[in-house]
Amino acid sequence: MATNPSAPAHQWRTSPTPYEALNAHFAEHPEHSLAHPEPFDTSRSDIYVEHRWQPIFAEMRREGPLHYIPESPFGPYWSVVQHKAVQHVESLPELFSSSWQHGGITILDRAEPAEGEEAFELPMFIAMDRPKHTGQRRTVAPAFTPAEMKRLEGDIRARTGEVLDSLPRGKTFDWVDTVSIELTTQMLAILFDFPWEDRRLLTFWSDWAGDTELAAVPGLEIERRAILFEMAAYFQQLWAKRAELGEAPDLISMMIHSPEMNQMSPQEFMGNLVLLIVGGNDTTRNTMSGIVHAFDRFPDQRKAFEENPDLIPNAVQECIRYQTPLKHMRRTASEDTELFGQQIRKGDKVILWYNSANRDEQVFDNADDLDIRRENARRHLAFGYGIHRCVGARLAELQLRILLEEMHRRRMRVHVAGNVERVRANFVEGFRKLEVEVTQF
Ligand code: HEM
Repeated sequence: MATNPSAPAHQWRTSPTPYEALNAHFAEHPEHSLAHPEPFDTSRSDIYVEHRWQPIFAEMRREGPLHYIPESPFGPYWSVVQHKAVQHVESLPELFSSSWQHGGITILDRAEPAEGEEAFELPMFIAMDRPKHTGQRRTVAPAFTPAEMKRLEGDIRARTGEVLDSLPRGKTFDWVDTVSIELTTQMLAILFDFPWEDRRLLTFWSDWAGDTELAAVPGLEIERRAILFEMAAYFQQLWAKRAELGEAPDLISMMIHSPEMNQMSPQEFMGNLVLLIVGGNDTTRNTMSGIVHAFDRFPDQRKAFEENPDLIPNAVQECIRYQTPLKHMRRTASEDTELFGQQIRKGDKVILWYNSANRDEQVFDNADDLDIRRENARRHLAFGYGIHRCVGARLAELQLRILLEEMHRRRMRVHVAGNVERVRANFVEGFRKLEVEVTQF
């Protein structure tokens, strides 16, 4: 494992999580709440935290593939809600841009800088169009080939086993922190060859960087920026130290030395770091919690898994479909066009709702149920589609498969046994807290 660059005085040990900071802000300023009465406005995070989004999207899907939402806390936008329509928009990347210069990949627009201030941008290749996207994606893709996954499998399996073996028995504990966050953070530390004892910094940075709603709250965006600069400084020190010691290059140092990426500005460098850290963290973490929660809600499916471990690879796909850890991606129309009979104008914001596509009854029978034998579970769109389809999908699938296999090997059954707290966000779908108890089957 890599050496530790003399770490900066860690602000992260005392700072609140962004979630705590946001809640405190809304408690003090209820008038800033993002809740909104427009019935088809699915940007409202209250419908997710209260877990009542399903009938809203079902009604929208019945009415058509896309809807115009004239008013929302994020401005007007188009909602694409059917499976075939999401795929269609994603297959036209020239017409529907991901570029940060046009608005980026989330419903939240770029923050306009205050007068006299410079804009703070974090360009990353998920938010770029061809040809720049192609070159940068190609640089990191070799880290996620089947051969690389084979190479990482032993280490990930051993560490997963250690975490599972250390779980308390006969006692309630938080699965999110003890298992989901720990395992995804460990995986990133393995992938980046990051100093092991500092690995929770990756979690901390991911929490701050990935919360798109933070940018809408004045003081918190400044704090977020400071934390991201701290992250970039940490990585820079790490590589300087490694180069000095002649240590082997890891994924990110490979990235900064590649011809496609060595011209990156400091902001772009920071943006791509954030992409890999958040991309690999929040998503897989929430599926690890989602699996346990879903098995508890559908005990017949947990029983099927316990009786037949051959179902594990399909169960992974089905859990990702059911969970859909990223609810949406955004595109911006680069010219006037017609889409499923509706007139889209250049510059319009188009939101692709993966959570809705993955519950589309035209593709999935009884879509609101978990069914680990579902024959077409793989058709889910949780990893997106087309040129931006998740580059880390194989790694996510590997970790989730290993987790289920190692739980099965230990005949471990996990029951929800206390508080369940969901993430308040229209982007990430997941759990803040999931109190569980472990028994045997
Ligand atoms: C892109 C989901 C795990 C890195 C994406 C996209 C989605 C997604 C929806 C955008 C696709 C699109 O626009 O069409 C997920 C889910 C995961 C997961 C659901 C886990 C269950 C990971 C992991 C990593 C990762 C483990 C890396 C460590 C990335 C990167 C991109 C991306 C770098 C940008 C790809 C591009 O623009 O070409 N992911 N992801 N993701 N993901 Fe993931």
